[in-house]
Amino acid sequence: MPIAVPGGARTPQRTNRLPVPGSGAHTVPVLIRRETPADIAAVADVTAAAFAGRSETPVPIEVTLLGELRTSDAWLPALSVVAVGDAGEVIGHVVCTRAHIGPDQSLALGLGPLSVLPAHQRRGVGKALVHAVLGAADAFGEPLVALLGSPDYYGRFGFRPSTEVGVTAPDPAWGAYFQVRTLTTYQPTLKGAFSYAEPFSRV
Ligand SMILES: CC(C)(COP(=O)(O)OP(=O)(O)OC[C@H]1O[C@@H](n2cnc3c(N)ncnc32)[C@H](O)[C@@H]1OP(=O)(O)O)[C@@H](O)C(=O)NCCC(=O)NCCS
Repeated sequence: MPIAVPGGARTPQRTNRLPVPGSGAHTVPVLIRRETPADIAAVADVTAAAFAGRSETPVPIEVTLLGELRTSDAWLPALSVVAVGDAGEVIGHVVCTRAHIGPDQSLALGLGPLSVLPAHQRRGVGKALVHAVLGAADAFGEPLVALLGSPDYYGRFGFRPSTEVGVTAPDPAWGAYFQVRTLTTYQPTLKGAFSYAEPFSRV
C-alpha cells in the first residue's frame, strides 16, 4: 500500500520520501505498506524499542498485547501496517483491531499499538502510519476508530474526545484521552459503551 508523503516546501516532491529534520532538502525513503508474515518479528522489535523507555517490565506490555491480538478473532490483517526504510527494514507499525460499540455491539475499530523506532521518530513516520491506517479503514467502510492517547498528538488526525459523539470509554477516568475519529460511513446513531478487543482487558 504505497502512499505518497509530500515533503516540506523546500523538499523535492518525491513519492515515499520523508524529510530529515534540520537537513534542508535531504530526504529518506519511507514506504508504507500492509504487514506481511515476514514482518512479524521485526514489528515486535519495533514495538519493544518504541515503548522500552516507559515500560516497568522487561518486555513492554504493548509487545505482549500485540502478540495476543494477533492470535485473537479481532485481528484484521489488512489493518496491520508497517513503515519500512530504504533497506526494507521495518521502522514503524500501527494496527487497528475489531472493537464494538453499544448494546447492539455495532462494529468499530480500536487503534494501537502505534510504534516508531526511536531513531526514526519526529520525521513524520507516525503521521504517515496513522493516515494510512485511517484511509484503509475508511476504504473498508469502517465507521469509527477509537484510541487512548494524547489529544495533542491525535487531534491533528481528526480525533476528538469520544464523549462528543456519545461513545463512552471502557474506563471513565480516561477522560479526553479516549478519542474517536469518525469515518465516511459513520452515523450519529453509533453511540454507547466502547469495548476493545478482548486482549486489551486481559494483558
Ligand atoms: C508517538 C509516536 C508513534 C510518534 O511517531 P513519530 O514518527 O515520532 O511522529 P511524527 O513524526 O508523525 O510526529 C511527531 C510529532 O508528534 C509529537 N508527539 C509525539 N508523541 C507525542 C505525544 N505522546 N503527545 C504529544 N505529541 C507527541 C512530537 O512532539 C512531534 O511534534 P512536532 O512535529 O511538533 O515536533 C512515536 O513517538 C512513538 O513510537 N512513541 C513511543 C510509543 C508511543 O507512545 N506510541 C503511541 C501510544 S498512544
